[in-house]
This record gives sequence, C-alpha cells and structure tokens, in this order.
Amino acid sequence: MEYKVFLDEKDIPRQWYNIQADFSTPLPPPLNPGTGKPIGPEDLAPVFPMNLIEQEVSTQRWIDIPEEVLDKLLMWRPTPLYRAARLEKFLGTPAHIYFKHEGVSPAGSHKPNTSIPQAYYNKTFGIKRLTTETGAGQWGSALAFACNQFGLECKVYMVRISFNQKPYRKMLMQTWGATCIPSPSPETNAGRKFFEENPEHHGSLGIAISEAIEDAVTSKDTRYSLGSVLNHVLMHQTIIGLETKKQMARFGEYPDIVVGCVGGGSNFAGLAFPYLSDKMNGKEMRLIGCEPTSCPTMTQAPYVYDFGDTACTTPLLAMHSLGHGFVPAPIHAGGLRYHGLAPLVSKALVEGLIEAKAYGQLQTFAAGLTWARTEGFIPAPETNHAIACVIEEAQRAKEEGKEKVILMIWSGHGLIDLAAYDAYLSGKLQDTAFPVEEMQRLVAELEKFPRPAA
Ligand SMILES: Cc1ncc(COP(=O)(O)O)c(C=O)c1O
Repeated sequence: MEYKVFLDEKDIPRQWYNIQADFSTPLPPPLNPGTGKPIGPEDLAPVFPMNLIEQEVSTQRWIDIPEEVLDKLLMWRPTPLYRAARLEKFLGTPAHIYFKHEGVSPAGSHKPNTSIPQAYYNKTFGIKRLTTETGAGQWGSALAFACNQFGLECKVYMVRISFNQKPYRKMLMQTWGATCIPSPSPETNAGRKFFEENPEHHGSLGIAISEAIEDAVTSKDTRYSLGSVLNHVLMHQTIIGLETKKQMARFGEYPDIVVGCVGGGSNFAGLAFPYLSDKMNGKEMRLIGCEPTSCPTMTQAPYVYDFGDTACTTPLLAMHSLGHGFVPAPIHAGGLRYHGLAPLVSKALVEGLIEAKAYGQLQTFAAGLTWARTEGFIPAPETNHAIACVIEEAQRAKEEGKEKVILMIWSGHGLIDLAAYDAYLSGKLQDTAFPVEEMQRLVAELEKFPRPAA
C-alpha cells in the first residue's frame, strides 16, 4: 500500500480559488454599525492595506499567487497527503482515511499559508509593522515567522489563558523577532478596562482583536492582520485543497466526506472550498466542520450581523455568532475559542452546503491519543476535533459496511501543546457546559441590527 503522496515543487498551485465567484447569491456586505449601510473599501483602509482589501471584496474566481509568495511557500509546500492506514486498521473500518498534513510548516500549522501573503502585501504597500491577536499562539507565531521573512516588525496580543498555558509559543514568536504580550493588557483602551477589573482575566480572541486593531490604527505605518474569518484569509488557505485534489487523484480516490476543525473557519475552508465548488456543480459529498461543545458557533448560534471583536471596533459581519461579548470556557483548543465564524463558511452553512458537529474536550483528547498511538504524529488540540469526527464517521462506515473515503485536514501538530496532553493524561481535564442563556442574552442585543438575508 502507498502511504503518502508528495507533489513536486513545480506542481504547487499558482492561483488561489475564490469561492465568492461561485455562490448563487453575493455574500451579505459588511455594515457600518452606526448607519446600518454597507461599508466601502476606503472604510477599511486604516486597518488593512488596499491590496488586501481588493482581495477581500473580489469576486474573481482565480487569483494569481505572486512569485515572491510562492518562493516563501516553497519552504515547506507542497505538504504531504497521507493515508491513515494504521488508524483504519486499529478501528477495523472499511473506510479509507486520508489526511493533509499542514503541521510541517515552520510554525507547525496551516497558518503560514496566509501569514506569508499578508506580510508580502503589507510590505509591498509600504507598511513597516503589523499587529495581531492570537489564541493558542499558532497564528501569532505564523505571523512572527512571516514578518521576519519580509523584514516587518510584529506585535502579538496573546489571549492570557493561552499565554499562561503555552509559554513556548511566546518563545517561538520572540525567536522570530516579534513582541508578544498577554491580553487583556494595560497597553490599550480596549484591554485596560478588562485588565483593571481583573489582572488575571483569561481574555478571549474578541478582546485581543480589539487591542490589536486599536494599536494598528493609532500607530504609524502599522496595519492589522487577522489569521482567520476574512474572505482573503480563507482564499489564501485554498492552496491546501487545490494541492489535495491533485494528490487524491494520484491515490485514485475522491472523498465522500471532507472534515476539518473550525475556529474562525480558515483551515476547514482551505480544504473544503475547492471541493465545495465540485459539490455546487452536482458532485455528491458531505463537508463537515467540527467545533467545541463549549464554543458551538456553528451548531447553536444564530446567523446574524455582529461585530468581529469584543470592543465593537470592526464593521458588522454577517455570520453565525454567539455574541461579541461571549467569553468561551478556557479549553486547550485556544484557536477554536472564537464567538463568530467566517462569513463565507456561515453562508455555506446557511445554504445547507456544509454540516457541523460539536465535540466535548474529553472526547477530542481521547481521539487525539488514539491518533498519536496509531499514526504517531501528535495533533494540536484544535485538530483533535476533526479527528473525533473522522473516528465517528469511520465507525459508522464499519457499522454500515461501507467503504467510505474520508478526507481530513490535519491543521497542526501538538508538540507545543504537551501540557494539555499532560492535563488530560493526569485526569485534570473537564468538559464544560455551554451557557445557553448567556448566549441568548448576548444575541438578543443584536436584534437592533439588520438580519442578513439567509
Ligand atoms: C492548529 C490549529 N487548527 C485550527 C485552528 C482554527 O482556526 P481556523 O478555524 O481559522 O482554521 C487554529 C487556530 O489557531 C489552529 O492553531
């Protein structure tokens, strides 16, 4: 049996796929919260460089990847596609399980697929410094790496609970020359309020985003960079699915089920959107996004207009949201602790093109352990959500006696998350209940805004 397929460097995709070209109706536009009217590209100019804003609103189906970006992506791309044959054997399933290994990048996850182009476009626009937020530290370290490659300064606001749980990611960022501080911090208006109430405040991605945006719009030659959610970020990630299609063809297979974990939605979209394009053209398949039961944006939250951050500095985005004030439980999958969901993934969900499933923390770590003890590679806690779903689907295929082809994105390795595995193995991890009433209270506040067309 063949276990893995590599692509030659010359076969790296040279264009990104923009799904905005293929939805039957346009994405509901971002709105100005004051007027309720759509915002224009110039409204975003203090936050992002215009070349990225143009990508954000583009409806062109294919967008060329600049040579300088390809040259950096070739440091680790194309990434390998594996057959998880040992896991199949352990489960005794007739399913064929494949995984696209995005843990081989310098930062250890899929995130550099967008940090590299974002740093490049900022640099060519004349920007000297980028700010961002990070949860588990995967995105912060990816941006630190990319800024280092293009000679930009980088400042990262890291959600405090993860800053404390995962000190090694801070060290990665520092190694690549970035500054990393815990959020909420006393350094911005957005953070100070929470910091003064409680200097040990766990923080959330929503608060850290507010801090990073405030820093960007009040500092010289500085812009803000986001690691997920936005249209251009998801588009940069489609290089994953485009490579995978070529590799699956080499295995002579086409997936029945495509699986990915979902925080803001970028790794899932990166694999799923090139397949969704086939599905929209009549191909039958299931695309499943997997999230934590403690932050169930896809499975429980309504489709609304909401802010992308806690301090209400962003435009209103049409998305599934638990409410911008929602502070998720401090689970170890820090990258999945986000109240919202990419507008493009939200639209695909509303249109019934994709499905969603939620998993408790204990089930995901059990799945991660099964993976580590069969396939060897230790997954990131976020990735474990996708693995929990793959195991469930493979067991169902066994019960039904069906030879399903299951394809998963392995979004990152967990070698810097070993403290989380330690907590699991020593019985210290728990499942946390989702506060439904808290969500209902928070989303009720959004009734004053227009409802996006479903
Ligand atoms: C390894 C890993 N997987 C998944 C995610 C979730 O992000 P997204 O939904 O944008 O892919 C993160 C976010 O930090 C991550 O670090």
